[in-house]
Amino acid sequence: MAKVKTTFFCQNCGTQFAKWQGQCNACKEWNTIVEEIIQKQEKSDWKTPTASVKRASVPLRIKDIDVAKEPRLNTFDGEFNRVLGGGIVPGSLTLLGGEPGIGKSTLLLQISLKLPYKTLYVSGEESQKQIRMRAERINSDNNNCYILTETKTQNIFKQIESLEPDIVVIDSIQTLHSDYIESSSGSISQIKECTTELIKFAKETATPVLLIGHITKDGNIAGPKILEHMVDTVLQFEGDRNHVFRILRAHKNRFGSTNELGIYEMQGSGLREVSNPSEILISKKDEELSGNAIAATLEGMRPLMIEVQALVSTAVYGTPQRSATGFNAKRLNMLLAVLEKRAGFRLGAKDVFLNITGGITVDDPAIDLAVVASILSSNEDFALQKDFCFAAEVGLSGEIRPVQRVEQRILEAEKLGFSTIFVSKYNKISLKNTTIKIQLISKIEDLVAILT
Ligand code: TYD
Ligand code: MG
Repeated sequence: MAKVKTTFFCQNCGTQFAKWQGQCNACKEWNTIVEEIIQKQEKSDWKTPTASVKRASVPLRIKDIDVAKEPRLNTFDGEFNRVLGGGIVPGSLTLLGGEPGIGKSTLLLQISLKLPYKTLYVSGEESQKQIRMRAERINSDNNNCYILTETKTQNIFKQIESLEPDIVVIDSIQTLHSDYIESSSGSISQIKECTTELIKFAKETATPVLLIGHITKDGNIAGPKILEHMVDTVLQFEGDRNHVFRILRAHKNRFGSTNELGIYEMQGSGLREVSNPSEILISKKDEELSGNAIAATLEGMRPLMIEVQALVSTAVYGTPQRSATGFNAKRLNMLLAVLEKRAGFRLGAKDVFLNITGGITVDDPAIDLAVVASILSSNEDFALQKDFCFAAEVGLSGEIRPVQRVEQRILEAEKLGFSTIFVSKYNKISLKNTTIKIQLISKIEDLVAILT
């Protein structure tokens, strides 16, 4: 009987070992090393049919390389294009990660259905019928999208060879398995092998491949970290499952910036692109309510007006409660301490609750001033003027600090009809002819004096 060949892989970082050991030398994690069977057979994987070689590589002088003409496939989805940096690059591998149920399959199926190119959507998770039902919800009359339910890469390549699609979607990389390796689907060695085969196919035929990847409970893409190094682009689809907004971010992009982000809204009929997010994130109401303030934040390169809500009430129990949704709780405590020490507010015996509306999480420091304003507003129980907005960081000594790209924030606020924006005196602003009033402040007392 032939001896079964096995190796040991760290499930955390993908490092290979000859024998088992308790701790991984590379990432120092304990108990992550698992034995996997890697019986390799004679390899005869993806063979390039000569006719379909669309791009053969030759060395070029760096000056002779034409940068302007990197061809891109338009995905006909404005947000997706934006995050990718203008469209899909032929021959690239894009990995889309996200929590279960966030809408990864929906997003890629929807894009496949919109594309005018011949698309092959390979699913190892759902049956063709299920996908058809999903497509019906999305409501499209596309005839160029082919659905294949298959998990073996060799069979997938066989279908690709006869179909010759312009773009391939794989849902998901963890369900694939290759004949050359005997360990089960989703194991490190399988993921590595299947991705290598797909990369080879993509590079040789200039066909872009979109992969869906599962993520682990701590938010990383399941499988070896190498997977992220192997692909060209890593996108993350995030959001709160109980809210309708989804954010698409690029964590790595070999063909564009990672600062862009796309925003979608999950509807009964699929994901809708949100091209003007600010208008949706701000709740439109007629009554003036205390505790609400609008922050002019930036998500990546995109200005985004976000509503902050605070509730300050007398603490019933000994220790006051502080809770924040969508905002760092430690930062909230810091801002409360600043308000107490520098502006004399007795918040030590108050419960403070803070909420960023829309279920999004903000880590832009420019939101500080809006948080402070909303706490003041709730504490004193007066409503802020609805057309005020804020963009500044608050320092420990109560100073109002400048933030990056303040002009972009001011212009967005002006576009949305705000009358006044509060920013730090130390920002350099060279905008002329703005109709919005730019209120410069330097310390927290200034804000208190203007608002109360
Ligand atoms: P799905 O794409 O299956 O998530 P993933 O592949 O990331 O696991 O998304 C499933 C969720 O999206 C499910 O809870 C139902 C919801 N959904 C809608 O709200 N509208 C739709 O049109 C579709 C197709 C799904
Ligand atoms: Mg899915």
